[in-house]
Amino acid sequence: MKDAAPQTIYLKDYQPFGFVLRSVSLTFVLSPNATRVKSRIAFEPNPDAPAHRFFLHGEKLKLISARIDGKAVTPEVTPEGLTCDVPDAPFIWEAEVEIDPANNFALEGLYMSNGMYCTQCEAEGFRKITYYPDRPDVMSVFTVRIEGDLPVLLSNGNPVKSGDGWAEWHDPWPKPAYLFALVAGELVAHSDSYTTCSGNHVDLNLWVRPGDEGKCAFGMEALKKSMQWDEEVYGREYDLDVFNIVAVDDFNMGAMENKGLNIFNSSAVLASPETSTDMNFERIEAIIAHEYFHNWTGNRITCRDWFQLCLKEGLTVFRDSQFTSDMRSAPVKRIGDVIDLRARQFPEDNGPLSHPVRPESFQEINNFYTATVYEKGAEVIGMLKRLVGDAAYAEALDLYFARHDGEACTIEDWLKVFEDVTGRDLSQFKRWYSQAGTPRVQVEEDYSEGTYTLTFTQSTPASVATPAPQPQVIPVAVGLLGQNGDEVRETELLELTEARQSFEFTGLGSKPVPSILRGFSAPVILERESTTEERAFLLAHDTDPFNRWEAGSALARANLMEMAAEGAVPDSAYLDGILAVLRDDTLDPAYRALMLGLPGQSELAASLAEKGITPDPMAIWTAVETLRQALAEHAQDTLPRLFAQSRVDAPYAPDAEQSGKRALAGAVLALISRLDGGAEAARQYATADNMTLQLSALTCLLKTGKGEAELGAFYDQWQHDRLVIDKWFSLQVMMAQPGQTASVTKALTQHRDFNWKNPNRFRATLGALAGNHAGFHAADGSGYALLADWLITLDPVNPQTTARMCSAFQTWKRYDAGRQGLVRAQLDRIMAQPGLSRDTSEMVSRILGA
Ligand code: TRP
Ligand code: ZN
Repeated sequence: MKDAAPQTIYLKDYQPFGFVLRSVSLTFVLSPNATRVKSRIAFEPNPDAPAHRFFLHGEKLKLISARIDGKAVTPEVTPEGLTCDVPDAPFIWEAEVEIDPANNFALEGLYMSNGMYCTQCEAEGFRKITYYPDRPDVMSVFTVRIEGDLPVLLSNGNPVKSGDGWAEWHDPWPKPAYLFALVAGELVAHSDSYTTCSGNHVDLNLWVRPGDEGKCAFGMEALKKSMQWDEEVYGREYDLDVFNIVAVDDFNMGAMENKGLNIFNSSAVLASPETSTDMNFERIEAIIAHEYFHNWTGNRITCRDWFQLCLKEGLTVFRDSQFTSDMRSAPVKRIGDVIDLRARQFPEDNGPLSHPVRPESFQEINNFYTATVYEKGAEVIGMLKRLVGDAAYAEALDLYFARHDGEACTIEDWLKVFEDVTGRDLSQFKRWYSQAGTPRVQVEEDYSEGTYTLTFTQSTPASVATPAPQPQVIPVAVGLLGQNGDEVRETELLELTEARQSFEFTGLGSKPVPSILRGFSAPVILERESTTEERAFLLAHDTDPFNRWEAGSALARANLMEMAAEGAVPDSAYLDGILAVLRDDTLDPAYRALMLGLPGQSELAASLAEKGITPDPMAIWTAVETLRQALAEHAQDTLPRLFAQSRVDAPYAPDAEQSGKRALAGAVLALISRLDGGAEAARQYATADNMTLQLSALTCLLKTGKGEAELGAFYDQWQHDRLVIDKWFSLQVMMAQPGQTASVTKALTQHRDFNWKNPNRFRATLGALAGNHAGFHAADGSGYALLADWLITLDPVNPQTTARMCSAFQTWKRYDAGRQGLVRAQLDRIMAQPGLSRDTSEMVSRILGA
């Protein structure tokens, strides 16, 4: 039963729990529809708490019995939990509950996936397993006994004992309930081991369903690299005898960092060259690292409350980005991260879902696992590191681990270690955590008699979350180039702290060309009246790889906006500049592949709206098509050579070098296909022996309006492989013509393999619809209506995934009145569903601005 008036939780209301937990022991007697969970918890009054009311969270539980110090009690039970009179002294709480994992399709708590039991407890799923103080600041040592007629029975920590049909686990590290995990099933292990820097032996296992054994090797290597990297770079050693990872097909997100027992969406860990693309491999390596790194940033040091989520997520995303930069190309990783930030975080920060990196209120915490908390949260740490320098950053992190190990912390604790190490006052910097919205930075320049002056003005649009934004500390990395392309001033970090501020560079021989916000040194929107000539100059000469790429994309963006809004033609400065970069064989192929990318269509719509122009999705689509075609024709003579030279002859390896070559070859093939009608792509499809080549060829064929036969053959070849069939679903939607996107998607939802309860398949299909900008925003509203139909269907079953996908509508106010009316009608229709989940109702009402 959902409350009629949803409750809002506030950061300012935090109070410690009234009791301390000395130990927790749990026994699970597994059964698909009637699993019994027995708990035995040693409580004692918390001297630091202002009140000692005994409330345990619990949802969808059947209470069988409860005892205090061995005596039966009758607690007062509500849909949210229970209360009970308890002694004013240490006592033992015992309870037995029954749950129904086979009918748990929300994929939160204990549920079943393909006959396997598994759990997902973050953020507040443990309360669906037993009655418990389900909050991250309540930490305890867990002992777990699992009884069940399945060969593999896993939980957190170290194995204690096991026998036929049972196993016991003990986790010596105190942890909050959200890190609890249990897995039981017919699983097989891909095993290895790791010896830590101080010589401890750790058994490593990657558990999968029989048949998936061949997809484990890469994930295991990624795990070992992550363990070593965290020792070398952060001095963090693993702290248990075993590290288990389990792959699960039905999972709401990418993966979960449960202590010693990480659970992964199979798409985020299983890989083979035949079934996974280079991009899949890179993502898997990053997610394995991310979850592993949580062992210290999240588990050993956890969050006091869910408002502090960025404490673990921002830091862990930052750490996994550092890892990927070290394993692969740092500039390529940085550019990829910025593309992702602009595609996912900027729309959030500049629309109705805008919230600070540390939100101050929520109704449903699951709705705050956002790009703002994760990715902007990581950007904030990157800025902090830039501001204090690498050495002080390392010192502050050492202090953080030393001071807070075993604690549940806040952003205040985090900033304090930096203040203590550097002596800096970070109170203004802290606004990055408390203010929503993306700062705009305007730049004016002036040159006279050898002195060059840059004047910056910063402002952040007011929002519901932050009605009166104050100036933030913005680190702006700037270098200056001479007219001949030489760097006359190396990168310098300017610290903006005021609304308007000037910086002088003296002793220059002539007016320089500035390269501003190098490396994307702050997550802001740089508003600078720059000329085509200057952008072309930076595209040719900038020594900063990020800004060189940025110059190319700024040229493309400006050109596409004029094409979409005013019917301009392709700009030769863009075409010439990109062609020169393409031809430069000294440049990394992966970097050149990025240079061939264009700003996303949704991002172009945002840029137009920012200028006060109502974006027309079809006009944007046409502009992009026209510019791509112009580039193909312009680069015609270079493409075949580049394509041939980007071929990889060595046996397939998903490393940075080979993936970079294949990325360039793929981008070039897309251009070639515009000129040869898909002939080269058809050849590649016929001979492809890995998924990267197979999929890039199929993409090009579909784009050219061909590939019908290959699409069928692809299905026949891969129908046994769920993860590949996800690609088959999403590719068709992504490649659909704007006028047909909704009907193509609708037909796919009627396919016998469209299992809508599986989040991966749902996202592959409906998520792809939302991602096809012109198709989703079809003027007849067919895209909006189809997505809303499916969100309404999914909500009663899986509120978490439904609510996340509502964000497809967050940009609706950018578009014309006709489209706004169509979206509003769908949002109203969703809102009117009886029994709508708290998750979805919070999202839709925020999007509506109610
Ligand atoms: N903490 C996880 C991570 O960052 C993500 C996560 C949060 C999650 N809530 C979840 C995963 C719910 C699955 C389901 O990696
Ligand atoms: Zn995380």
